[in-house]
Amino acid sequence: MSIVIRDGLVITATGATPTDVLVSGERVAALASPDSGLADRWVTGADQVIDATGRYVIPGGVDVHTHLEMPFGGTFSSDTFETGTIAAAWGGTTTIIDFAVQPKGSSLLSALDRWHEKADGQAAVDYGFHLILSDVNDATLKEMDACVDAGVNSFKMFMAYPGVFYATDGDILRAMSRARDIGAMVMMHAENGIAIDQLVTEALAEGRTEPVHHGVTRPTELEAEATHRAIALAKVTGSPLYIVHLSASEALSAVTAARDTGQNVFAETCPQYLFLSLDDLDRPDFEGAKYVASPPLRPRSHQAELWRGLRTNDLSVVSTDHCPFCFKEQKELGRGDFSKIPNGMPGVEHRMDLLHQGVVRGEISLPRWVEITSTTPARMFGLYPRKGTIGPGSDADIVIYDPRAVQTLSVQTHHMNVDYSAYEGLQVLGRVETVVSRGQVVLDRGSFLGRTGHGRFLAREPCQYLH
Ligand code: URP
Ligand code: ZN
Ligand code: ZN
Repeated sequence: MSIVIRDGLVITATGATPTDVLVSGERVAALASPDSGLADRWVTGADQVIDATGRYVIPGGVDVHTHLEMPFGGTFSSDTFETGTIAAAWGGTTTIIDFAVQPKGSSLLSALDRWHEKADGQAAVDYGFHLILSDVNDATLKEMDACVDAGVNSFKMFMAYPGVFYATDGDILRAMSRARDIGAMVMMHAENGIAIDQLVTEALAEGRTEPVHHGVTRPTELEAEATHRAIALAKVTGSPLYIVHLSASEALSAVTAARDTGQNVFAETCPQYLFLSLDDLDRPDFEGAKYVASPPLRPRSHQAELWRGLRTNDLSVVSTDHCPFCFKEQKELGRGDFSKIPNGMPGVEHRMDLLHQGVVRGEISLPRWVEITSTTPARMFGLYPRKGTIGPGSDADIVIYDPRAVQTLSVQTHHMNVDYSAYEGLQVLGRVETVVSRGQVVLDRGSFLGRTGHGRFLAREPCQYLH
């Protein structure tokens, strides 16, 4: 199977250039300047020719933070590997990295087995795993080695959620030391969960039960404090650190300061923190529950700093933290008690389009759009140059993007298995037109042409920013 993509503007992290692309089998075979005439030769015998005139040709998105079928708050996130990866493809994301959950008292390797069972034969695009390390003991620390050998070399820990995933500073110190020794990455959910739980108890005792109090009881100071503490623990141990879903400008300041000293600290933010705000959590009639996630949405004033961080690389990745729960029956578990609302929001389908609005508004450049949504995530988690770029030898994960199309985001038209859109009615400029995943056209002009089982597990190399 060979495909020629002609006359598009190929955008990578390093620039935007009119380029023709030859795909052969699952890989990119060659790139050529349109005036070289090479594409005229390629089309002879090609199985398919895609005219990309007026379109961007970008590497498929790499979303390194999803939660499919994740157990949380007495229920499960509502997208499966089938529905979640199909929605990802619709949005131009051709690789996801999902979090396998180690329940307390069980082994890391059994968590990994469980996640392989969920994903095997179900995924429409390629996928890898991180592990949620919720039980630190001699046995699990030892097991981290075997996980790295199995292609899973990043371990998420939680300074939040006491009694569920919470890790003490001592646990974190031990896991970081191990990660340092075996070339693994610790990913941190940085919120001070002990203090937050106290604030939650006080709010509920005072009858403050509405969704907005989820935000009020998780103040930015407690994200900044935990971020700072995680950075200090990483420094003491000499371990690299990746802060997940950073939402607050004070937390970003801690990351910026650490990076300025040369410490291997990295951070991601998510579209919800760039486009939504605490006002959404305060929507009437329990609608705010749709926006409950942790860390919470922040006052809009934080957004300018997050965009600044994306420009200066203090924030180097945008992932979705896709963790959808339906409003009916799932979010509704928390009517009358915000602490029982399952934490998480849908978003895997909209990341590329939303970040493209950053280009439209002049917040980021076209190459930076590709860099933070595809190239850096691939490098950060050991997938580059197989993923994250368009170059000879790379997997042919390619998105043809129409920058002038106008679309309105809505539950009526999205493909995520969730009964609401966090961006209902939002009009965006730009739309995915065609998606190629490992040389197969899986989506074209509004028709899904892929199949479950096409997506393969990706065993990953260590983070490619460490020396
Ligand atoms: O609220 C969130 N973010 N839910 C998913 C779990 C996590 O902490 O990432
Ligand atoms: Zn988290
Ligand atoms: Zn998450």
